[in-house]
Amino acid sequence: MALLTVLNPSVVCFLCLILCSCGFCNGGITGNFVRKKYSPDMPLDSDVFRVPPGYNAPQQVHITQGDIDGRGVIISWITPDEPGSSTVLYWSENSNHKNHAEGIFVRYKFFNYTSGYIHHCTIDKLEYDTKYIYEIGIGNSTRQFWFVTPPRAGPDVPYTFGLIGDLGQTHDSNVTLTHYESNPKKGKTVLYLGDLSYSNDYPLHDNSRWDTWGRFVERNAAYQPWIWTAGNHEIDFAPELEETTPFKPYTHRYYVPYKSSHSTSPLWYSIKRASAYIIVLSSYSAYAKSTPQYKWLRDELPKVDRSETPWLIVLMHCPLYSSNSHHYMEGETMRVVYESWFVKYKVDVVFSGHIHAYERSKRVSNIAYNILNGQCTPVNDQSAPVYITIGDGGNHDGPALGMVEPQPSFSAYRESSFGHGIFDIKNRTHAYFGWHRNQDGYAIEADSFWFHNRYWNPHGKYFVASY
Ligand SMILES: *[C@@H]1O[C@H](CO)[C@@H](O)[C@H](O)[C@H]1NC(C)=O
Ligand SMILES: *[C@@H]1O[C@H](CO)[C@@H](O)[C@H](O)[C@H]1NC(C)=O
Ligand SMILES: *[C@@H]1O[C@H](CO)[C@@H](O)[C@H](O)[C@H]1NC(C)=O
Ligand SMILES: *[C@@H]1O[C@H](CO)[C@@H](O)[C@H](O)[C@H]1NC(C)=O
Ligand SMILES: [Fe+2]
Repeated sequence: MALLTVLNPSVVCFLCLILCSCGFCNGGITGNFVRKKYSPDMPLDSDVFRVPPGYNAPQQVHITQGDIDGRGVIISWITPDEPGSSTVLYWSENSNHKNHAEGIFVRYKFFNYTSGYIHHCTIDKLEYDTKYIYEIGIGNSTRQFWFVTPPRAGPDVPYTFGLIGDLGQTHDSNVTLTHYESNPKKGKTVLYLGDLSYSNDYPLHDNSRWDTWGRFVERNAAYQPWIWTAGNHEIDFAPELEETTPFKPYTHRYYVPYKSSHSTSPLWYSIKRASAYIIVLSSYSAYAKSTPQYKWLRDELPKVDRSETPWLIVLMHCPLYSSNSHHYMEGETMRVVYESWFVKYKVDVVFSGHIHAYERSKRVSNIAYNILNGQCTPVNDQSAPVYITIGDGGNHDGPALGMVEPQPSFSAYRESSFGHGIFDIKNRTHAYFGWHRNQDGYAIEADSFWFHNRYWNPHGKYFVASY
Protein backbone atom coordinates (compact mmCIF):
# COMPACT_ATOMS: atom_id res chain seq x y z
CA MET A 1 0.00 0.00 0.00
CA ALA A 2 3.05 2.29 0.30
CA LEU A 3 2.71 3.40 -3.31
CA LEU A 4 -0.58 5.00 -2.39
CA THR A 5 0.96 7.56 -0.03
CA VAL A 6 1.74 10.01 -2.82
CA LEU A 7 -1.80 10.04 -4.15
CA ASN A 8 -4.66 12.18 -2.98
CA PRO A 9 -7.19 10.67 -0.59
CA SER A 10 -10.07 10.16 -2.99
CA VAL A 11 -7.83 8.26 -5.40
CA VAL A 12 -6.48 6.25 -2.49
CA CYS A 13 -9.97 5.32 -1.37
CA PHE A 14 -10.93 4.32 -4.89
CA LEU A 15 -7.83 2.15 -5.28
CA CYS A 16 -8.38 0.60 -1.87
CA LEU A 17 -11.87 -0.37 -2.86
CA ILE A 18 -10.56 -2.07 -6.01
CA LEU A 19 -7.74 -3.83 -4.16
CA CYS A 20 -10.07 -4.95 -1.37
CA SER A 21 -12.58 -6.35 -3.79
CA CYS A 22 -9.75 -8.38 -5.32
CA GLY A 23 -8.99 -9.83 -1.88
CA PHE A 24 -5.87 -7.75 -1.16
CA CYS A 25 -7.10 -6.69 2.24
CA ASN A 26 -9.79 -7.73 4.67
CA GLY A 27 -10.87 -4.47 6.20
CA GLY A 28 -12.16 -1.15 4.97
CA ILE A 29 -10.37 1.99 3.94
CA THR A 30 -7.03 3.29 5.20
CA GLY A 31 -6.70 6.96 4.41
CA ASN A 32 -3.08 7.70 3.57
CA PHE A 33 -3.26 11.44 3.97
CA VAL A 34 -0.46 11.67 6.56
CA ARG A 35 0.19 14.94 8.31
CA LYS A 36 3.57 16.21 9.45
CA LYS A 37 4.92 14.34 12.41
CA TYR A 38 5.25 16.63 15.34
CA SER A 39 4.28 20.04 16.49
CA PRO A 40 5.57 21.48 19.79
CA ASP A 41 3.34 23.15 22.35
CA MET A 42 2.51 26.77 21.63
CA PRO A 43 4.95 29.06 23.48
CA LEU A 44 3.87 30.63 26.74
CA ASP A 45 3.54 34.09 25.19
CA SER A 46 1.05 32.88 22.53
CA ASP A 47 -2.11 34.89 22.00
CA VAL A 48 -4.28 31.92 23.03
CA PHE A 49 -2.68 31.87 26.51
CA ARG A 50 -3.13 35.59 27.22
CA VAL A 51 -4.32 36.43 30.73
CA PRO A 52 -7.49 38.55 30.65
CA PRO A 53 -6.92 42.19 31.68
CA GLY A 54 -7.87 43.53 35.10
CA TYR A 55 -6.76 42.70 38.63
CA ASN A 56 -7.65 39.10 39.60
CA ALA A 57 -9.83 38.76 36.49
CA PRO A 58 -11.58 35.37 36.09
CA GLN A 59 -9.71 33.16 33.63
CA GLN A 60 -10.00 29.63 32.23
CA VAL A 61 -13.77 29.95 32.18
CA HIS A 62 -15.55 26.74 31.18
CA ILE A 63 -19.02 25.27 31.50
CA THR A 64 -20.49 21.79 31.55
CA GLN A 65 -23.92 20.29 32.09
CA GLY A 66 -24.92 20.63 35.75
CA ASP A 67 -27.68 18.05 36.21
CA ILE A 68 -29.12 14.94 34.60
CA ASP A 69 -31.50 16.58 32.13
CA GLY A 70 -29.92 19.79 30.92
CA ARG A 71 -31.60 22.51 33.01
CA GLY A 72 -28.44 22.96 35.08
CA VAL A 73 -25.01 24.31 34.15
CA ILE A 74 -21.77 24.19 36.15
CA ILE A 75 -19.74 27.36 35.57
CA SER A 76 -16.06 27.12 36.52
CA TRP A 77 -13.23 29.67 36.47
CA ILE A 78 -10.01 30.58 38.21
CA THR A 79 -8.99 33.78 39.96
CA PRO A 80 -5.21 33.97 40.26
CA ASP A 81 -4.48 36.45 43.08
CA GLU A 82 -7.16 36.14 45.72
CA PRO A 83 -10.50 34.34 46.10
CA GLY A 84 -12.57 37.26 44.87
CA SER A 85 -16.16 36.16 44.45
CA SER A 86 -17.75 32.79 43.63
CA THR A 87 -21.05 34.39 42.64
CA VAL A 88 -22.52 34.06 39.17
CA LEU A 89 -24.95 36.71 37.96
CA TYR A 90 -27.12 35.38 35.14
CA TRP A 91 -30.20 36.29 33.19
CA SER A 92 -32.11 35.02 30.23
CA GLU A 93 -31.63 36.97 27.02
CA ASN A 94 -35.34 37.88 27.04
CA SER A 95 -35.46 39.18 30.58
CA ASN A 96 -33.94 41.95 32.65
CA HIS A 97 -34.32 40.01 35.86
CA LYS A 98 -30.84 39.13 37.12
CA ASN A 99 -30.39 36.02 39.24
CA HIS A 100 -27.52 35.21 41.59
CA ALA A 101 -26.05 31.83 42.34
CA GLU A 102 -23.41 31.19 44.97
CA GLY A 103 -20.57 28.81 44.17
CA ILE A 104 -17.56 27.56 46.04
CA PHE A 105 -13.83 27.66 45.44
CA VAL A 106 -11.14 25.02 45.90
CA ARG A 107 -7.34 25.02 45.62
CA TYR A 108 -4.76 22.30 45.42
CA LYS A 109 -1.01 21.91 45.67
CA PHE A 110 1.02 19.70 43.38
CA PHE A 111 4.67 19.35 44.50
CA ASN A 112 5.74 23.01 44.62
CA TYR A 113 2.88 24.38 42.49
CA THR A 114 -0.13 25.99 44.15
CA SER A 115 -3.22 26.49 42.06
CA GLY A 116 -5.24 29.68 41.83
CA TYR A 117 -8.71 29.89 43.35
CA ILE A 118 -10.81 27.45 41.33
CA HIS A 119 -14.46 28.45 41.42
CA HIS A 120 -17.40 26.16 40.63
CA CYS A 121 -20.97 27.38 40.63
CA THR A 122 -24.01 25.35 39.60
CA ILE A 123 -27.00 27.23 38.28
CA ASP A 124 -30.17 25.20 37.82
CA LYS A 125 -33.86 25.23 37.00
CA LEU A 126 -33.11 27.08 33.78
CA GLU A 127 -35.59 27.20 30.92
CA TYR A 128 -34.94 24.78 28.07
CA ASP A 129 -33.70 26.03 24.72
CA THR A 130 -32.93 29.51 26.00
CA LYS A 131 -29.94 31.80 25.72
CA TYR A 132 -28.52 32.99 29.04
CA ILE A 133 -25.92 35.66 29.70
CA TYR A 134 -23.68 35.20 32.74
CA GLU A 135 -21.26 37.46 34.53
CA ILE A 136 -18.44 36.55 36.91
CA GLY A 137 -15.73 38.50 38.73
CA ILE A 138 -15.94 41.72 40.73
CA GLY A 139 -14.87 45.34 40.63
CA ASN A 140 -13.43 46.44 37.34
CA SER A 141 -12.56 42.86 36.35
CA THR A 142 -15.99 41.40 35.59
CA ARG A 143 -16.41 39.27 32.48
CA GLN A 144 -19.55 38.27 30.57
CA PHE A 145 -20.25 35.14 28.56
CA TRP A 146 -23.34 33.31 27.34
CA PHE A 147 -24.67 29.82 26.62
CA VAL A 148 -27.80 28.21 25.22
CA THR A 149 -29.61 25.50 27.20
CA PRO A 150 -30.59 22.34 25.29
CA PRO A 151 -34.19 21.58 24.31
CA ARG A 152 -36.17 19.36 26.68
CA ALA A 153 -35.23 15.70 26.22
CA GLY A 154 -37.42 13.98 23.66
CA PRO A 155 -37.16 11.29 21.02
CA ASP A 156 -37.09 13.45 17.91
CA VAL A 157 -35.19 16.47 19.18
CA PRO A 158 -32.37 17.23 16.74
CA TYR A 159 -29.04 18.07 18.33
CA THR A 160 -25.45 18.45 17.18
CA PHE A 161 -22.50 17.23 19.24
CA GLY A 162 -18.84 17.91 18.53
CA LEU A 163 -16.20 15.28 19.28
CA ILE A 164 -12.69 16.23 20.30
CA GLY A 165 -10.06 14.10 22.01
CA ASP A 166 -6.42 14.33 23.11
CA LEU A 167 -6.26 18.02 22.26
CA GLY A 168 -3.16 19.24 24.08
CA GLN A 169 -1.87 22.74 23.34
CA THR A 170 0.19 22.70 20.15
CA HIS A 171 -0.37 24.71 16.99
CA ASP A 172 -2.19 21.63 15.66
CA SER A 173 -4.47 21.74 18.71
CA ASN A 174 -5.31 25.32 17.84
CA VAL A 175 -6.06 24.32 14.25
CA THR A 176 -8.37 21.51 15.47
CA LEU A 177 -10.29 23.90 17.73
CA THR A 178 -10.52 26.49 14.96
CA HIS A 179 -11.88 23.87 12.55
CA TYR A 180 -14.46 22.78 15.10
CA GLU A 181 -15.54 26.39 15.65
CA SER A 182 -15.67 27.08 11.91
CA ASN A 183 -17.49 23.90 10.93
CA PRO A 184 -20.76 24.94 9.25
CA LYS A 185 -22.49 22.04 11.09
CA LYS A 186 -22.17 24.13 14.28
CA GLY A 187 -21.69 21.73 17.19
CA LYS A 188 -23.57 22.83 20.30
CA THR A 189 -21.83 20.71 22.92
CA VAL A 190 -18.42 19.05 22.91
CA LEU A 191 -18.10 15.43 23.95
CA TYR A 192 -14.50 15.51 25.11
CA LEU A 193 -12.73 12.15 25.00
CA GLY A 194 -9.96 12.64 27.55
CA ASP A 195 -6.32 13.81 27.71
CA LEU A 196 -6.62 17.55 28.12
CA SER A 197 -3.46 19.57 28.78
CA TYR A 198 -0.60 17.02 28.68
CA SER A 199 1.08 19.01 31.46
CA ASN A 200 2.31 15.78 33.05
CA ASP A 201 4.81 15.50 30.18
CA TYR A 202 6.65 18.54 31.61
CA PRO A 203 9.21 18.36 34.43
CA LEU A 204 7.39 18.17 37.80
CA HIS A 205 4.11 17.83 35.82
CA ASP A 206 4.31 21.62 35.44
CA ASN A 207 0.74 22.47 36.42
CA SER A 208 1.00 25.96 34.93
CA ARG A 209 0.37 24.09 31.64
CA TRP A 210 -3.04 23.16 33.05
CA ASP A 211 -3.60 26.91 33.36
CA THR A 212 -2.46 27.69 29.81
CA TRP A 213 -4.75 24.93 28.50
CA GLY A 214 -7.68 26.36 30.43
CA ARG A 215 -7.07 29.77 28.87
CA PHE A 216 -6.66 28.23 25.41
CA VAL A 217 -10.01 26.42 25.31
CA GLU A 218 -11.96 29.19 27.08
CA ARG A 219 -12.93 30.75 23.76
CA ASN A 220 -15.19 27.75 23.17
CA ALA A 221 -15.66 26.07 26.56
CA ALA A 222 -17.03 29.25 28.20
CA TYR A 223 -19.88 29.33 25.66
CA GLN A 224 -20.83 25.69 25.16
CA PRO A 225 -20.64 22.78 27.57
CA TRP A 226 -17.78 20.37 27.25
CA ILE A 227 -18.70 16.93 28.60
CA TRP A 228 -15.52 15.65 30.24
CA THR A 229 -13.99 12.16 30.10
CA ALA A 230 -10.78 11.42 32.03
CA GLY A 231 -7.76 10.08 30.13
CA ASN A 232 -4.40 8.71 31.20
CA HIS A 233 -2.88 12.22 31.11
CA GLU A 234 -5.32 13.21 33.84
CA ILE A 235 -3.98 10.64 36.32
CA ASP A 236 -0.96 12.77 37.39
CA PHE A 237 0.28 9.98 39.65
CA ALA A 238 3.84 10.89 40.64
CA PRO A 239 5.18 9.04 43.69
CA GLU A 240 8.63 10.50 42.94
CA LEU A 241 7.09 13.88 43.79
CA GLU A 242 5.07 12.36 46.63
CA GLU A 243 1.94 13.01 44.57
CA THR A 244 -0.03 9.80 45.00
CA THR A 245 -3.64 10.95 44.67
CA PRO A 246 -4.67 10.08 41.10
CA PHE A 247 -6.58 12.71 39.09
CA LYS A 248 -5.85 15.51 41.58
CA PRO A 249 -5.46 18.49 39.18
CA TYR A 250 -8.24 17.22 36.87
CA THR A 251 -10.85 16.65 39.57
CA HIS A 252 -10.17 20.04 41.18
CA ARG A 253 -10.44 21.90 37.88
CA TYR A 254 -13.19 20.04 36.02
CA TYR A 255 -16.38 19.45 37.97
CA VAL A 256 -19.07 17.22 36.47
CA PRO A 257 -22.64 16.44 37.66
CA TYR A 258 -21.90 12.88 38.75
CA LYS A 259 -24.18 12.88 41.78
CA SER A 260 -27.28 13.49 39.69
CA SER A 261 -26.75 10.13 37.99
CA HIS A 262 -26.13 8.47 41.38
CA SER A 263 -22.48 7.92 40.66
CA THR A 264 -20.05 8.06 43.54
CA SER A 265 -17.16 9.38 41.44
CA PRO A 266 -16.68 12.27 39.00
CA LEU A 267 -14.82 9.84 36.75
CA TRP A 268 -18.00 8.05 35.61
CA TYR A 269 -21.50 9.52 35.25
CA SER A 270 -24.25 10.09 32.76
CA ILE A 271 -26.38 12.91 31.39
CA LYS A 272 -29.36 13.29 29.10
CA ARG A 273 -29.15 15.98 26.48
CA ALA A 274 -31.87 16.47 23.83
CA SER A 275 -32.40 12.99 22.31
CA ALA A 276 -29.15 11.50 23.62
CA TYR A 277 -28.27 9.57 26.75
CA ILE A 278 -24.55 9.92 27.32
CA ILE A 279 -22.63 7.57 29.59
CA VAL A 280 -19.07 8.58 30.52
CA LEU A 281 -16.74 5.82 31.73
CA SER A 282 -13.24 5.83 33.19
CA SER A 283 -10.64 3.63 31.53
CA TYR A 284 -8.27 4.35 34.45
CA SER A 285 -10.47 3.45 37.40
CA ALA A 286 -11.33 -0.04 38.52
CA TYR A 287 -14.04 -1.54 36.29
CA ALA A 288 -13.94 -5.27 36.98
CA LYS A 289 -16.84 -7.13 38.53
CA SER A 290 -17.89 -5.84 41.98
CA THR A 291 -16.08 -2.50 41.64
CA PRO A 292 -18.02 0.77 42.13
CA GLN A 293 -17.87 1.62 38.42
CA TYR A 294 -19.10 -1.86 37.43
CA LYS A 295 -22.05 -1.75 39.81
CA TRP A 296 -22.97 1.76 38.71
CA LEU A 297 -22.92 0.85 35.00
CA ARG A 298 -24.83 -2.40 35.62
CA ASP A 299 -27.59 -0.38 37.32
CA GLU A 300 -27.40 2.54 34.89
CA LEU A 301 -27.90 0.79 31.54
CA PRO A 302 -31.39 -0.58 32.32
CA LYS A 303 -32.51 2.95 33.28
CA VAL A 304 -32.05 4.33 29.79
CA ASP A 305 -35.49 5.00 28.30
CA ARG A 306 -35.05 4.88 24.54
CA SER A 307 -38.51 6.32 23.98
CA GLU A 308 -37.28 9.51 25.68
CA THR A 309 -33.61 9.45 24.58
CA PRO A 310 -33.24 7.09 21.58
CA TRP A 311 -29.50 7.68 21.15
CA LEU A 312 -27.32 5.78 23.61
CA ILE A 313 -23.75 7.07 23.46
CA VAL A 314 -20.81 5.84 25.54
CA LEU A 315 -17.61 7.85 26.03
CA MET A 316 -14.34 6.40 27.33
CA HIS A 317 -10.74 7.36 26.75
CA CYS A 318 -9.22 4.04 25.73
CA PRO A 319 -10.85 2.38 22.69
CA LEU A 320 -12.07 -1.22 22.80
CA TYR A 321 -11.52 -1.72 19.05
CA SER A 322 -8.43 -0.25 17.42
CA SER A 323 -6.09 -1.49 14.71
CA ASN A 324 -3.24 0.84 15.57
CA SER A 325 -0.07 -0.54 17.18
CA HIS A 326 -0.02 2.46 19.53
CA HIS A 327 -1.62 1.41 22.82
CA TYR A 328 -2.43 -1.90 21.14
CA MET A 329 -4.85 -4.06 23.18
CA GLU A 330 -4.97 -1.59 26.08
CA GLY A 331 -8.77 -1.57 25.92
CA GLU A 332 -9.01 -5.35 25.92
CA THR A 333 -9.61 -5.84 29.62
CA MET A 334 -12.53 -3.39 29.67
CA ARG A 335 -13.91 -4.94 26.48
CA VAL A 336 -14.04 -8.33 28.19
CA VAL A 337 -16.01 -6.88 31.10
CA TYR A 338 -18.43 -4.47 29.37
CA GLU A 339 -18.85 -5.38 25.71
CA SER A 340 -21.69 -7.86 26.26
CA TRP A 341 -23.66 -5.11 28.03
CA PHE A 342 -23.12 -2.70 25.14
CA VAL A 343 -24.59 -5.33 22.80
CA LYS A 344 -27.43 -6.28 25.14
CA TYR A 345 -28.49 -2.66 25.63
CA LYS A 346 -27.92 -1.76 21.97
CA VAL A 347 -25.51 1.12 22.47
CA ASP A 348 -25.46 3.14 19.24
CA VAL A 349 -21.89 4.33 19.36
CA VAL A 350 -18.83 4.26 21.61
CA PHE A 351 -16.49 7.23 21.18
CA SER A 352 -12.89 7.07 22.41
CA GLY A 353 -9.62 8.94 22.18
CA HIS A 354 -6.13 7.84 23.29
CA ILE A 355 -4.88 6.72 19.86
CA HIS A 356 -3.75 9.86 18.03
CA ALA A 357 -5.53 8.93 14.85
CA TYR A 358 -9.04 8.41 13.53
CA GLU A 359 -10.76 5.03 13.15
CA ARG A 360 -14.35 3.89 12.64
CA SER A 361 -15.35 0.25 13.13
CA LYS A 362 -18.08 -1.78 11.54
CA ARG A 363 -20.78 -3.11 13.85
CA VAL A 364 -18.98 -6.08 15.38
CA SER A 365 -18.90 -7.92 18.67
CA ASN A 366 -16.61 -10.45 20.22
CA ILE A 367 -18.66 -11.83 23.07
CA ALA A 368 -19.12 -15.49 22.18
CA TYR A 369 -15.78 -16.54 23.59
CA ASN A 370 -15.31 -18.49 26.78
CA ILE A 371 -12.02 -20.05 27.73
CA LEU A 372 -13.06 -23.40 26.25
CA ASN A 373 -14.77 -22.68 22.92
CA GLY A 374 -12.10 -20.91 20.86
CA GLN A 375 -14.65 -18.45 19.39
CA CYS A 376 -12.41 -15.43 19.78
CA THR A 377 -12.88 -13.57 16.49
CA PRO A 378 -14.99 -10.41 16.17
CA VAL A 379 -18.13 -11.14 14.14
CA ASN A 380 -20.65 -8.87 12.46
CA ASP A 381 -23.35 -8.00 14.97
CA GLN A 382 -26.17 -5.57 14.22
CA SER A 383 -26.83 -5.11 17.95
CA ALA A 384 -23.28 -3.93 18.53
CA PRO A 385 -22.17 -0.30 18.68
CA VAL A 386 -19.97 1.38 16.12
CA TYR A 387 -16.62 2.17 17.78
CA ILE A 388 -15.09 5.49 16.78
CA THR A 389 -11.63 6.60 17.88
CA ILE A 390 -11.00 10.35 17.67
CA GLY A 391 -7.79 10.83 19.64
CA ASP A 392 -6.59 13.14 16.92
CA GLY A 393 -6.87 16.57 18.55
CA GLY A 394 -3.22 17.37 17.81
CA ASN A 395 -1.20 17.14 21.04
CA HIS A 396 2.63 17.22 21.29
CA ASP A 397 3.03 13.45 21.23
CA GLY A 398 2.37 13.60 17.48
CA PRO A 399 0.34 11.25 15.31
CA ALA A 400 -0.05 7.51 15.85
CA LEU A 401 1.24 6.20 12.53
CA GLY A 402 1.53 2.52 13.41
CA MET A 403 -1.41 0.93 11.69
CA VAL A 404 -1.46 -2.84 11.85
CA GLU A 405 -1.50 -4.44 8.38
CA PRO A 406 -3.56 -5.79 6.84
CA GLN A 407 -6.47 -3.67 8.02
CA PRO A 408 -8.61 -6.04 10.10
CA SER A 409 -12.14 -6.75 8.93
CA PHE A 410 -13.72 -4.87 11.86
CA SER A 411 -12.11 -1.61 10.74
CA ALA A 412 -14.21 0.41 8.29
CA TYR A 413 -12.02 3.52 7.95
CA ARG A 414 -8.78 4.65 9.58
CA GLU A 415 -6.35 7.48 9.06
CA SER A 416 -3.47 9.12 10.92
CA SER A 417 -4.58 12.73 10.58
CA PHE A 418 -5.58 15.32 13.14
CA GLY A 419 -9.22 16.42 13.19
CA HIS A 420 -12.56 16.41 14.97
CA GLY A 421 -15.98 14.79 14.59
CA ILE A 422 -19.60 15.92 14.47
CA PHE A 423 -22.49 13.67 15.57
CA ASP A 424 -25.60 15.27 14.16
CA ILE A 425 -28.85 13.73 15.46
CA LYS A 426 -31.75 14.27 13.05
CA ASN A 427 -34.56 12.33 14.76
CA ARG A 428 -35.12 9.01 16.52
CA THR A 429 -34.11 6.93 13.51
CA HIS A 430 -31.20 8.83 11.96
CA ALA A 431 -27.99 10.56 12.96
CA TYR A 432 -25.22 11.68 10.67
CA PHE A 433 -21.58 11.42 11.67
CA GLY A 434 -18.77 13.29 9.90
CA TRP A 435 -15.05 13.30 10.55
CA HIS A 436 -13.15 16.43 9.54
CA ARG A 437 -9.42 16.43 9.02
CA ASN A 438 -7.47 19.61 9.70
CA GLN A 439 -5.83 19.77 6.27
CA ASP A 440 -9.19 20.19 4.53
CA GLY A 441 -11.55 23.15 4.34
CA TYR A 442 -14.00 23.67 7.20
CA ALA A 443 -16.97 22.06 5.43
CA ILE A 444 -15.23 18.95 4.09
CA GLU A 445 -15.81 15.51 5.61
CA ALA A 446 -13.05 12.97 5.08
CA ASP A 447 -15.23 10.15 6.42
CA SER A 448 -18.95 10.03 7.13
CA PHE A 449 -21.57 7.53 8.21
CA TRP A 450 -25.37 7.50 8.58
CA PHE A 451 -26.28 6.00 11.93
CA HIS A 452 -29.48 4.01 12.03
CA ASN A 453 -30.68 4.00 15.62
CA ARG A 454 -30.26 0.56 17.23
CA TYR A 455 -33.56 0.75 19.09
CA TRP A 456 -35.87 2.48 16.59
CA ASN A 457 -34.30 1.58 13.28
CA PRO A 458 -32.07 -1.47 13.78
CA HIS A 459 -32.63 -2.92 10.34
CA GLY A 460 -32.26 0.39 8.55
CA LYS A 461 -35.96 0.10 7.63
CA TYR A 462 -36.12 3.87 7.48
CA PHE A 463 -33.30 4.00 5.02
CA VAL A 464 -30.92 6.79 4.10
CA ALA A 465 -28.19 5.85 1.64
CA SER A 466 -24.89 5.19 3.39
CA TYR A 467 -21.61 3.70 2.39
C1 LIG B 1 -5.00 30.14 17.21
O1 LIG B 1 -6.13 30.19 16.37
C2 LIG B 1 -6.82 31.42 16.43
C3 LIG B 1 -8.10 31.28 15.61
O2 LIG B 1 -7.81 30.76 14.38
C4 LIG B 1 -5.91 32.54 15.94
O3 LIG B 1 -6.56 33.77 16.03
C5 LIG B 1 -4.67 32.55 16.81
O4 LIG B 1 -3.76 33.53 16.32
C6 LIG B 1 -3.99 31.21 16.81
N1 LIG B 1 -2.87 31.24 17.73
C7 LIG B 1 -1.77 30.50 17.59
C8 LIG B 1 -0.70 30.69 18.61
O5 LIG B 1 -1.63 29.70 16.68
C1 LIG C 1 9.61 24.23 41.70
O1 LIG C 1 10.83 23.53 41.73
C2 LIG C 1 11.58 23.62 40.52
C3 LIG C 1 12.80 22.70 40.62
O2 LIG C 1 13.40 22.83 41.88
C4 LIG C 1 11.97 25.09 40.28
O3 LIG C 1 12.66 25.21 39.06
C5 LIG C 1 10.70 25.92 40.21
O4 LIG C 1 11.02 27.29 40.07
C6 LIG C 1 9.87 25.71 41.46
N1 LIG C 1 8.59 26.39 41.28
C7 LIG C 1 8.03 27.09 42.25
C8 LIG C 1 6.71 27.69 41.95
O5 LIG C 1 8.56 27.25 43.33
C1 LIG D 1 -9.14 48.25 38.91
O1 LIG D 1 -9.36 48.25 40.31
C2 LIG D 1 -8.14 48.19 41.06
C3 LIG D 1 -8.51 47.99 42.53
O2 LIG D 1 -9.59 48.82 42.90
C4 LIG D 1 -7.33 49.44 40.80
O3 LIG D 1 -6.11 49.38 41.51
C5 LIG D 1 -7.04 49.54 39.30
O4 LIG D 1 -6.37 50.75 39.02
C6 LIG D 1 -8.32 49.46 38.50
N1 LIG D 1 -7.97 49.35 37.07
C7 LIG D 1 -8.64 49.99 36.13
C8 LIG D 1 -8.17 49.72 34.72
O5 LIG D 1 -9.55 50.73 36.35
C1 LIG E 1 -35.44 11.28 10.04
O1 LIG E 1 -34.27 11.87 9.46
C2 LIG E 1 -33.92 11.29 8.22
C3 LIG E 1 -32.60 11.91 7.81
O2 LIG E 1 -32.67 13.30 7.77
C4 LIG E 1 -35.04 11.54 7.21
O3 LIG E 1 -34.71 10.94 5.97
C5 LIG E 1 -36.31 10.92 7.74
O4 LIG E 1 -37.37 11.21 6.87
C6 LIG E 1 -36.61 11.47 9.13
N1 LIG E 1 -37.76 10.77 9.68
C7 LIG E 1 -38.86 11.40 9.98
C8 LIG E 1 -39.97 10.56 10.53
O5 LIG E 1 -38.99 12.61 9.83
FE1 LIG F 1 -4.33 8.96 26.16
